Amino acid sequence: MPTKKGSTDPDSDMAQVADPTHGARHIAIIMDGNGRWAKKKHLPRALGHKKGVEAVRDIVRVAGEMGIEAMTLYAFSSENWNRPADEITDLMGLLRQYIQSDIDEFDENGIRLKVIGNYKALDSDIVQLIDGALDRTANNDRMTLAIALNYGAQDEMLRAVQSIAAAAKNGEVNPQDIDIHHVSAALDTAGLPPLDLLIRTSGELRLSNFLLWQAAYSELYFTDTLWPDFDKRELQRALKSFGDRDRRFGGR
Ligand code: IPE
Ligand code: IPE
Ligand code: MG
Repeated sequence: MPTKKGSTDPDSDMAQVADPTHGARHIAIIMDGNGRWAKKKHLPRALGHKKGVEAVRDIVRVAGEMGIEAMTLYAFSSENWNRPADEITDLMGLLRQYIQSDIDEFDENGIRLKVIGNYKALDSDIVQLIDGALDRTANNDRMTLAIALNYGAQDEMLRAVQSIAAAAKNGEVNPQDIDIHHVSAALDTAGLPPLDLLIRTSGELRLSNFLLWQAAYSELYFTDTLWPDFDKRELQRALKSFGDRDRRFGGR
């Protein structure tokens, strides 16, 4: 039997029989490079984003089949409001379409939807769609798909600090008793397994305000592949790389 650290080639048949997750319970992806994908093909940016949604659909399916417990996808950052209005409109339009077209499949496949980030600040019809989808999939337990919308890790931590400070003020917790667990529980990712693997596509080597707290001991994986080209094979490669790492968590 191949072990967790087995040296199976991700492209070989052996990889099919080994645990395809390589022990990763929670993976997150910074889905970057839609614009460059479109530019390379002399297409409008909007088409890059459209292809990006297709890649999301495929990867969510694949991750569910592999037995990944949770997947967190960075779809729109709190800093992406700095983009031109027409691009924001395109992205929000795609988000509306995606939720409406894929909610049935999520539900059929046992996917529980979660949203991290301040999504309540999005257009009210999108908030309604999201709340409906959250409700509808709340009891599914095959995989949690967490979508980061209007998400920034600093904003998330700030909101967590505010809620803990309010609890302290109300006498619900002593400031000196506040520990790591209080903070984790106050973050948008509360309830998700620890983040094992953080992937970024498109060759950029930065976190862009994504999961700064949660990534404390995550393994990082960077690929030059642009998000619309990221497929099952690419995910298998990332997971294989994860399986080959020696995670020490500060020990030896
Ligand atoms: C990622 O692709 C999608 C979002 C940030 C919404 P980009 O739009 O950032 O693509 P590049 O980085 O310009 O290629
Ligand atoms: C990060 O990508 C955000 C998402 C993928 C949603 P960006 O394209 O916004 O990041 P920067 O601006 O290159 O750091
Ligand atoms: Mg980008």
